[in-house]
Amino acid sequence: MRLAGKTALITGAARGIGRAFGEAYIREGAQVAIADIDGDRAAQTARELGKAARPILMDVTDQSSIDQAVQDAITGLGRIDILINNAALFTAAPVVEIDRDDFNRVFSVNVAGTLFTMQAVARHMIARGGGGKIINMASQAGRRGEPLVAVYCATKAAVISLTQSAGLNLIEHGINVNAIAPGVVEGEHWDGVDAFFAKYEGKPPGQKKAEVGAAVPFGRMGTATDLTGMAVFLASSEADYIVAQTYNVDGGNWMS
Ligand SMILES: NC(=O)c1ccc[n+]([C@@H]2O[C@H](COP(=O)([O-])OP(=O)(O)OC[C@H]3O[C@@H](n4cnc5c(N)ncnc54)[C@H](O)[C@@H]3O)[C@@H](O)[C@H]2O)c1
Repeated sequence: MRLAGKTALITGAARGIGRAFGEAYIREGAQVAIADIDGDRAAQTARELGKAARPILMDVTDQSSIDQAVQDAITGLGRIDILINNAALFTAAPVVEIDRDDFNRVFSVNVAGTLFTMQAVARHMIARGGGGKIINMASQAGRRGEPLVAVYCATKAAVISLTQSAGLNLIEHGINVNAIAPGVVEGEHWDGVDAFFAKYEGKPPGQKKAEVGAAVPFGRMGTATDLTGMAVFLASSEADYIVAQTYNVDGGNWMS
């Protein structure tokens, strides 16, 4: 087991990729805080994952909620060795229709949420000594723009940039900050993405999803479990010498 005795806080872990990370970490011997703004679903997920999982209600847009969630995780798990900044929102619109409130809403979760959760956990890791691992969830959307996806793409480019700066700043404390950039991944998130494209590109529901899946060089969309190997690796001591990097795990969609 590669994470035996470790503890992890995973944001947005009530469903989707974050949940799969929680499951994989528990299989590798870790205890996991399943943190989410959807408290009922976090509780259900934690029940389903078993006694190594504990639910935590957390809104990454609210500083007092971040501080409380980090404290709850430390109290419940004893310490935080690993943080995955996974919570995020998607949005899409033509540039001329981007709404300022929607921009602020999505930046507040994807960028400020990532930064200030990273800050709160890094403060804990520095105070207790011994380092830690922080993994931020970027996206292929952060590697280049897309015509209808300016805001979400910009948030994920910001996550890649924050990973670089924080990675360089925190390694002196033995804290490795790295990121994972998935491509297109099956799940409720992509059902929402598909609905945006149905609206703006006039496609029938499900068509955009089928098109992007067929275009992946590997030959299909990813699944959450396609990402767990990288998440376990980056959290393990095998990744101690890896600093400030973003890894594409996307079936070959993007090369950089
Ligand atoms: N699914 C994909 O195709 C894909 C592709 C590239 C990157 N990603 C990234 O991977 C991560 C996980 O994606 P997913 O597909 O599992 O998404 P998802 O939408 O299924 O899950 C996101 C979770 O975050 C939670 N959340 C939303 N706002 C929150 C807040 N303010 N505070 C705390 N939790 C909040 C939601 O309740 C939900 O449980 C995200 O960062 C996403 O941008 C996903």
